Amino acid sequence: MSQDRSIGSDAAEIGDGLPTGQAILRNPLLNKGTAFTRAERQALRLEGLLPPRVFTIEEQVQRVMENYRGKQTDLERYIHLIGLQDRNETLFYKVLTTHLEEMLPIVYTPTVGLACQRFGHIFRRPRGMYITVEDRGRVESIFRNWPQRDVRVIVMTDGERILGLGDLGVSGMGIPIGKLSLYTACAGLPPAQALPLMIDVGTENQAYLEDPLYMGVRRRRVRGREHAELVGEIIEAAQTVWPRCLVQFEDFGNSTAFPLLEQWRNRACTFNDDIQGTAAVTLAGIFSALRLTRQRLIDQTVLFLGAGEAGIGIGELIVSAKVDEGAVPDQARRQCWFVDSKGLVVQGRADLATHKLRFAHPHPGCPDLLSAVKALRPSILIGVSTVPGSFNRAVVEAMCAVQERPIIFALSNPTSKSECTAEQAYAYSRGRAIFASGSPFPPCTIEGKVLEPGQANNSYVFPGIGLGVLASESTRVTDRMFSAAAKALADLCTEGDLAVGRVFPALNRIREVSVALAAAVAKVAFDDGLARVPPPPDLLAFVRSKVWEPVYRTYVPDQPAV
Ligand code: NAI
Repeated sequence: MSQDRSIGSDAAEIGDGLPTGQAILRNPLLNKGTAFTRAERQALRLEGLLPPRVFTIEEQVQRVMENYRGKQTDLERYIHLIGLQDRNETLFYKVLTTHLEEMLPIVYTPTVGLACQRFGHIFRRPRGMYITVEDRGRVESIFRNWPQRDVRVIVMTDGERILGLGDLGVSGMGIPIGKLSLYTACAGLPPAQALPLMIDVGTENQAYLEDPLYMGVRRRRVRGREHAELVGEIIEAAQTVWPRCLVQFEDFGNSTAFPLLEQWRNRACTFNDDIQGTAAVTLAGIFSALRLTRQRLIDQTVLFLGAGEAGIGIGELIVSAKVDEGAVPDQARRQCWFVDSKGLVVQGRADLATHKLRFAHPHPGCPDLLSAVKALRPSILIGVSTVPGSFNRAVVEAMCAVQERPIIFALSNPTSKSECTAEQAYAYSRGRAIFASGSPFPPCTIEGKVLEPGQANNSYVFPGIGLGVLASESTRVTDRMFSAAAKALADLCTEGDLAVGRVFPALNRIREVSVALAAAVAKVAFDDGLARVPPPPDLLAFVRSKVWEPVYRTYVPDQPAV
C-alpha cells in the first residue's frame, strides 16, 4: 500500500503490511503526523520520531490554516497546500473540504494557472506519472510501476492548451493534479485511486524550450498520427492495467481534443471535461437562469464568443437539450451561433476548422460581436474566447435592448481573461443581466440590490460524473449522463440562490451536489445497461457509501485507560 516505495526499505511492516517508522511518516496516504496516537506510536516504531503531544486532526487543521493565512501570495498558498498534500493527504483533504470555497481558487483556477506557468521553478516532489513519445511500445510496463493497484480515475493532459494560457508543455501537470484533488475534495474519490498523467509530446512554447529549469522533453510538439497512436496506446494500456478506470481528457488543443473524443467515447470509459463537463455546468446555469426569466430553452437564441472546445461542447449539449424539449434538430442548431476571431461563423466562410462547420449557418457575415448581437438578437450570450473586455458596455447594452433579463456568462479563465467582470455586467445592464463567470467574482451592489454572480465551475459536474461512474462501474460516459447531471445541478439551485441572481448552488454544498449528480449519472448507467454492478435498492445511499472521507484510519486500537 506504500505509495513511496523508495523509502520502503527501512520499513519493518506490521499486520496488514503497514510500513513503520520513517516509512509511514513519509507515506502521504498513511501518514497522520502528530495525530498518531500513543498506541500507534508504540506499535509502529514512531516513539522518539515525533514531538510528544498527540494532536487531533482539528488541531492540525488549525496549525495549517495559521500558516496558510500567513502567506503573502496565492502562489505561496498553493505551494504550502501542495507541500501538505505531499506529506499527509488525509490532513490535506480535511483542510480542503472544510475550507473549500476559500481554497478552490488556490488549488484550481486561477492560481493553479500561475503554478503551472512556474512549474519547473516551484517543483518539490513528483506526483502522478509522465509518459513521453520515447515511451511508445512500453506504456503498459511503465504503468505497472505505479504503486496503486486500483486506479479508478486518470486525468491526463498533453499540456497544449492549459486553461486560457496556451501551450505549457509538461508544466501543465498542475492541472491533472489539481483536478484530481477536486475529485477527492468534492466527491470523495479515494486519493489512492487517482492518477494524474502527463503525456509529454514536446511544446511549442519557445520560452520553455529556452528555460534551463523546464522539466519536459526539449523538442517541438509531436502531432498527427504519432500523437494519436501514443494516446491510443495509453488508453488501451490503462484499460488493461486498471480495467475499471475512467480516463478524463484535459486541456488538449482543439486539433486533438475533438478527434480523440470522437475516436474514444464509444470505445472506452472516457470523456473530455473541457468539452462535455463545461457543457453540462453551463447548461445547468442556463436552466436555472430560465427559472428566473420563466422561459423555455427551446425558445432561446444563443450567441457564443469563441468557437473552441468549451463553446462547441456547450453548443452541442444545448442542441440536444432543445431536442429533448421537442425542437427539430436542425432548427435547434440554427438557434446557436458563434463568433470567432474572424467574425460570425457562417456558411461559406473558407477558413473554418472542422469542429465549427456544424454551426456555420447561412447568414450574411458580421465582422464583430456587437454587429452579431444586433443582427441575431440573442437572449443568451456566452463568452469562451479568452478575450478580456470583449463584453463591453456597447455589447451588454445591445443585449439589454433585446431582452429584459439577458443571460450573460463570461466563462473565460483565469480572471484576467474574463470577457467582463461581474461588476461591469451588472453596471452596464443596470442589474438586469443574469450573470455567471468561469472564475469567481465577489458580490456587487447595484442600485441598492446585492447581486451574487454564480461561478460556472466545472467542479460542480466532473466529480459527480466520476463518482457516478465509479459507483456503477459504468463502461462508458455518455451524453445522457451529462444532460442528467445538468438537470440535477439546476434542480439543486434554491429560490434563495436565484433571489440574489446566483444560478448555481452555493459552493459549500458541493459534496452534497456531487452525490446527487453521481446518483443521476449512475441511474443512466443502470438504465442504459452500462453498469458492471447490480442496481442497488437505494441509489443515493449506494453512491454515498462510495464516498471517501478525510478521517484518519485507526491503525492500532487505543489501550483502555488505567
Ligand atoms: P479553445 O482554445 O478551445 O477556444 C477558444 C476560442 O476562442 C477559439 O476558437 C479561438 O479562436 C477563440 N477566440 C480567440 N480570440 C478570439 C476573438 N478575438 N474573438 C472571438 N473568438 C476568439 O478554449 P476553450 O476550451 O474553448 O476555452 C475558452 C475559455 O473558456 C478559456 O478561457 C477557458 O478557461 C474557459 N473555460 C471556462 C470554463 C468554465 O467556466 N467552467 C470551462 C472551460 C473553459
